[in-house]
Amino acid sequence: MTAVGIDAMEIWTGKLKLDLAETFAPAQGDDPGKYTKGLGLRASSFPDVYEDIVTMGANAAHRLMERKGLTPDDIGRIDVATESAFDNSKPVSTYIAGCLEQVYDENFHHANKGERKFACISGTQSLDDAYNWIRAGRNRGRAALVIATDTALYARDDPGEATQGAGAVAMLVDEDPNLVELSTEQGYGSADETDFLKPNQQFPSVDGKRSVNVYLARMREALEDFAEVAGDIHPGDYEMIPFHTPFPGMVRKAAALGYRHIIRGTDVGDLMAEEIGHQPMRSDFETDDEFHAAIKEYTDALTETERYQDWYSNAIEPTLEISREVGNWYTGSVHIARASGLKHARENGLDLDDARLLVASYGSGAQAEVHAETVVPGWEEEIGALDIDEQIRNRYDLSFAEYEQVHDVHNHETETDVEEFTAPENEFAFDGWGRMGERKYRYVE
Ligand code: HMG
Repeated sequence: MTAVGIDAMEIWTGKLKLDLAETFAPAQGDDPGKYTKGLGLRASSFPDVYEDIVTMGANAAHRLMERKGLTPDDIGRIDVATESAFDNSKPVSTYIAGCLEQVYDENFHHANKGERKFACISGTQSLDDAYNWIRAGRNRGRAALVIATDTALYARDDPGEATQGAGAVAMLVDEDPNLVELSTEQGYGSADETDFLKPNQQFPSVDGKRSVNVYLARMREALEDFAEVAGDIHPGDYEMIPFHTPFPGMVRKAAALGYRHIIRGTDVGDLMAEEIGHQPMRSDFETDDEFHAAIKEYTDALTETERYQDWYSNAIEPTLEISREVGNWYTGSVHIARASGLKHARENGLDLDDARLLVASYGSGAQAEVHAETVVPGWEEEIGALDIDEQIRNRYDLSFAEYEQVHDVHNHETETDVEEFTAPENEFAFDGWGRMGERKYRYVE
C-alpha cells in the first residue's frame, strides 16, 4: 500500500506577543507563576490589526507552496479547519484560494474546497479527510492542502484569557510523504458536552474547569477505543505523544492519566507497583469521593517517580516547546505539538526515522481522537525548513495598554481605528470590506 501522510508543513504565527509573566500577570495582580508554572505558558501570539484567519492561513499555505515548488495545478483539495470563521456560508478556503490566486498565474477552480468544524479537533479531521480522499484514489495524482487557522481569543477577564493565541498551520497531504505517514489505527471518544461553545460569537462561552475534566474523560475513551484497533499500548511503543495543547498544564494532566492507563498489565506497571503500590480499583472503595482521592494520591506519587519523569521528558516535554511561547491555536494546536517534538529531535540529534508517534487530538463539545503515525526519512529536512523560532522572536511585544486597545479589534468588528503595530511585508493583509460585506485581501510586497 502506498504511504499517505503529511509531506510538508509551514507555521505562521500572529505578529503580536502578549508576555504573560512580564505584562499580563502584573496587570491582573497575579503571581506570574500561575501562568509560567501552573498553565505552563510564557506568552501568547496575537494577530495584528491587518491579520485574521484568512491572512495567516494564506501566508502559511503560500510559503508551503513556494518552498515545495508547487502551483495550483498540483492541489486537488483545500480544506480549512477553523472555529473562528466569520461567515456561515462562504468557506474560508475560498478566501484563501482567492489570496493565493493573486500570486500565481494558475487558479484553483478544479480543487474541491471546504471548511471543517468541530472545535480544535477539526484540524485532525481535515487531515483524515485528505488521507481518505487519497486512499480512495480520487486525487488524480494531486495533493491536498489542509490549513488549520484560528484567532483563539477570549473575552477580557475570562479565565481563558491567559491561554489565548493566534496562528495557522498549513500541511500538504500526499502520497510518499516526507514528514509522517498516517495510519488506519484510530480511536475515538465522543459525547454531547456543553463545556465550550461559540454560538455565533468570536469570544467563547466557557466552563473552564469542566472543560478540563471533559478533555480527560474523552481522551481516556479514545485511548480505550484505540487499543481495540491497535492492541494494548506499552509506554515504550511511541517515541513522542503530541497532544492537543490548550496550555501545557492541561497536557501534564492528560499525560499522567494516559500513562496510568497504559502501564496496566505491563512490566512497567509491575515495577511501578513495587515502588508506589498498585493502582486503586473502584471496587476497593465505598464511595466515589474516596476512590477519586485515592486516584489523586496515586497519580501524585506516580508523577514523582524517576521512571515517569524520564518518560515525560522524552515523550511529552519536547512537544510543548512552541506552545509555551504562542498559546492555544485551537485547530492548529496538536499540529504545533507534533512540529515542536520533531524540531526538538532534530536540534538534539535524535534519530526518528521510522519512529512511531501517538497523536492525541481534542475538540470541545466534545471529541478526542488518538491515532498512530510513523516518522519517515526526510523529516529532518522538512522540519529544518521551519522558521518558527525567528517568527516568535520577531513578534511585536505589546504593552498592556496596547493589548487592551487591540483585543476587541478581532471581535468581528466591521470598523476599527486602531493603528497597526507592525508593517506587512511579502504577505497577505486584510484590505477592508467589499460591497456585500465580504472581507478583502491584498498581497503586500
Ligand atoms: P484559572 O481558574 O484561572 O486557573 O484557569 P487555576 O486557578 O485553576 O490555576 C491554573 C493552574 O495554575 C493550577 O494548577 C494552579 O494550581 C496553578 P493545577 O492545580 O490545575 O495543576 N497555579 C500556580 N502554580 C504555580 N504558581 C502559582 C500558581 N497559581 C496557580 N502562583 C482554566 C484555568 C483552565 C479554567 C482557564 O485557563 C480556562 O478557562 N481556559 C480555557 C478553557 C481551556 O483551555 N480548557 C482546557 C480543556 S478544553 C480544550 O482543550 C478545548 C479548547 O482548546 C477549545 C476547543 O476545543 O475548541 C479550549
